[in-house]
Amino acid sequence: MIIVMGVSGTGKSTVGKLLASELKIPFYDADDFHSEHNIKKLSAGQPLTDQDRRPWLENLGEQIKKWQADGGAVLACSALKEKYRQMLTTIPTSELSIIHLSGSIELIKHRLMERKDHFLDPSILKSQFEDLEEPKDAIKINVNQLPTEIIQEILTKMSKKTAFGIIGMGVMGQNLAINMANNQVKLSVFNRHVPGKEEGIAKDFVDRHASLGIQGFDDLKQFVDSIEAPRNILLMIQAGPAVDAVIDELTPLLGSNDLIIDGGNSNYLDTNRRDQQLAHHDINFIGTGISGGEEGARKGPSIMPGGSRTAYERIAPFLNSIAAKDRNGQPCCTYVGPEGSGHFIKMVHNGIEYAEMQLLAEVYELMRNGLGMLPEEIAKSLESWKTKGLDSYLLEITINILRKEENGELILDKILDAASQKGTGGWSTEAAIKLGAPLNTIADAVMARNLSAQKELRTSANNLYGQIKNSIDENSDDFLATLQEAYVAARIINHAVGFDMMKEASEQYHWGLNFSEIARIWTNGCIIRSELMNSAVNYFKDVDRLLLHPSIQKSLQDQKQSLARIIGQALIHGYPLPVFSSAMNFFLGYVNGQSSANLLQAQRDYFGAHTYRRVDKPLTESFHTEWVAS
Ligand code: 6PG
Repeated sequence: MIIVMGVSGTGKSTVGKLLASELKIPFYDADDFHSEHNIKKLSAGQPLTDQDRRPWLENLGEQIKKWQADGGAVLACSALKEKYRQMLTTIPTSELSIIHLSGSIELIKHRLMERKDHFLDPSILKSQFEDLEEPKDAIKINVNQLPTEIIQEILTKMSKKTAFGIIGMGVMGQNLAINMANNQVKLSVFNRHVPGKEEGIAKDFVDRHASLGIQGFDDLKQFVDSIEAPRNILLMIQAGPAVDAVIDELTPLLGSNDLIIDGGNSNYLDTNRRDQQLAHHDINFIGTGISGGEEGARKGPSIMPGGSRTAYERIAPFLNSIAAKDRNGQPCCTYVGPEGSGHFIKMVHNGIEYAEMQLLAEVYELMRNGLGMLPEEIAKSLESWKTKGLDSYLLEITINILRKEENGELILDKILDAASQKGTGGWSTEAAIKLGAPLNTIADAVMARNLSAQKELRTSANNLYGQIKNSIDENSDDFLATLQEAYVAARIINHAVGFDMMKEASEQYHWGLNFSEIARIWTNGCIIRSELMNSAVNYFKDVDRLLLHPSIQKSLQDQKQSLARIIGQALIHGYPLPVFSSAMNFFLGYVNGQSSANLLQAQRDYFGAHTYRRVDKPLTESFHTEWVAS
């Protein structure tokens, strides 16, 4: 049983009739139940008293009982005061929905003036607004929209089903759920039940955030049934076999055109495979990178969805509402491309992230040990870099880390120097090998972490070789200025390395990646957001390869000397500089029109008859030389 209420002129009859016809139940207008006495008063512009209303409302209350017993109905009735509504509530509240049509007095007055067939004098409107006591449990609908839109909104709000489901209530899952619910998305969440380990996680979460109205489940079928079809289900679970296990459990519960979104850091090759596997079941699949950690998930991450474009379009409004916003207020979310392209670019994002982190670690080591600077001096120095176009999220957190003390001591000095990794950086290195693409800075950042993890071995080697590091006794102001220039150059090269690999993948896999758009969604929300990324948005409008942009060429022309000088000094004084050196080597290799690879080809042909191509013959032909006279 549905009561459509509101002051006169809100369109109760129009909306009520449409709603009744949509739900295939009868429609009644409470005005048709007025006594003649009441109609005369209303037509004469006299407001009804509560005494006038009582018999009318009591009669309607009786009718409601009958209508409900016959299968329900829609009743249009002003029902302005709580006590009137109570008289109408003659059936259990669980069987009654109240729809409150609401609008400003100006809007309603305007609508009433336009109506010719109604007996209510517009002057009564003011008293109606005064009488109106807003119902607490009603579904409130703004009437400033088309009747069909109003019906749609009512049906959605009346439905107990939710619009989106999230599986996995870890840190990222919880924060994304809060972000979505804050953006008015009706949400179901699920967390598995593991006795003694994970019990009632989803229910606890929804209880802790009761005001968000999220539904929590630890039964997968109930969770799936609670979501409106075609369903949208986001997986926020650990990448790897767990994703396959959940997909296998979900598949028989889902219907055609339902959508699974994998929001974890999955390997793009797994995403390609799952995309094909689910297509056989007529289930859509999207693999999306989500960057920004806990805070990003809660306040606005960068989102990189790849897979079915139609499915993406269906969920774009949800994703856009929770994503970070770029400088122009646009969501940091875009359709990346087919198959595993979304996870591929997230993997490269993480690769760039690894190398950016390593560059800062190398800067820190040179400043701290080479120049003997105190942590606060380093923080100040890095702060001055922020104003020179070098601002980035990673630079900011590094400055904060350099200032964080525990019991008067720097926490950084208490942290073991052995870096961990969850896989994405390493996968980008594997992908580069698969694609035959260079990935110098990123691969070297991964290797630097691998070497750092061998702490025991490094300690023994250090004991054997003794002190290798010496202080850099240069004018420190000059050195710092050069270091800053070298850092600018190394960062540009590192970004070029990452984007060049995406270009390679885009060509080999026919993904049609848009690099300016990728840079744009990485300008906010994600871990590698920076001033440089903002500039890259424009550079990629002109060229597909960063190092071929005239502005980049101009800046590297000036900075390459600084990069070489820093690397030279650091190596001479005993400081490893894997990513700075790697950037320089990549750059020199990149701009080397005549490399020494002709010698490699000669050697290959010498010992293995692998053949080679000649510069003085068509490149389609292969040649072999008998290198040793027989
Ligand atoms: C992000 C991060 C995030 C995480 C990675 C890297 O974009 O929000 O990249 O995905 O930090 O998993 O982690 P590891 O350093 O452990 O590989």
